[in-house]
Amino acid sequence: MIEHKAEPGWAAVEEFLSETVVRPNRHLKHAVASAAAAGMPPIEVAPNAGKLLQLLVRISGARRVLEIGTLAGFSTIWMAQGLPEGGRLITCEYLPKHARVARANVDAAGIGHKVEIRLGAALESLAALEAEGHEPFDFVFIDADKENNPHYLNWAIRLGRPGTTIVMDNVVWEGALLDPSLDRVNAPGIICALEIMGKDPRLDATVIQTVGSKGWDGFALAVVR
Ligand code: SAH
Ligand code: DHB
Ligand code: MG
Repeated sequence: MIEHKAEPGWAAVEEFLSETVVRPNRHLKHAVASAAAAGMPPIEVAPNAGKLLQLLVRISGARRVLEIGTLAGFSTIWMAQGLPEGGRLITCEYLPKHARVARANVDAAGIGHKVEIRLGAALESLAALEAEGHEPFDFVFIDADKENNPHYLNWAIRLGRPGTTIVMDNVVWEGALLDPSLDRVNAPGIICALEIMGKDPRLDATVIQTVGSKGWDGFALAVVR
């Protein structure tokens, strides 16, 4: 965990953009409120980032989405709402309470039939998914423990196909990617995953820096070649 140093103006602008352009529905607002009520950390993506995920799912024509890190299902609902009828989203979460709150939220949002929540350590769930031999995932959102980001990136490629879209959250982490001493737990995994994105011939990637209610952060966008 790293201390967020959000300027007041960043959150105010984000609030304006959220209410003017993004306009999350009541189910999305409830998902955020339910997490707070259950004592879960407020680390879901910002509404404008959630809407971006939804648009990327739609633009990419994804029918099968994989999410690593569910929390209360806020990003899950955004992405599932971007799927066509018959589309499916599998999301991995290791805390039973988070999975329970998320289940209630995706069901209330009317997209529960599209969503499967896999309870357990994500690395184990990903290995199980491969063993089960599903169709490849078209879109992968990586947003769990940052230490495992390099492994999650490798799994995204393995469970994907040429053309699969990969989004990785929290890759700027208050600038800790330049100074790992700011967060010895999470920064090394974030940096290693970014290095892979730049060097691995199987990937073509970029990173967008962001500021807002979640402080100074960013997301990586990659496509499997
Ligand atoms: N994507 C969510 C936020 C996820 S927060 C959103 O934007 O709405 C990160 C989540 O990953 C937490 O719920 C945490 O419990 C879960 N998590 C952390 N390490 C994990 C692991 N090894 N396996 C599965 N889930 C994990
Ligand atoms: C934090 C933020 C996240 O988006 C996440 O997935 C995990 C942790 C955090 O701020 O600690
Ligand atoms: Mg995140």
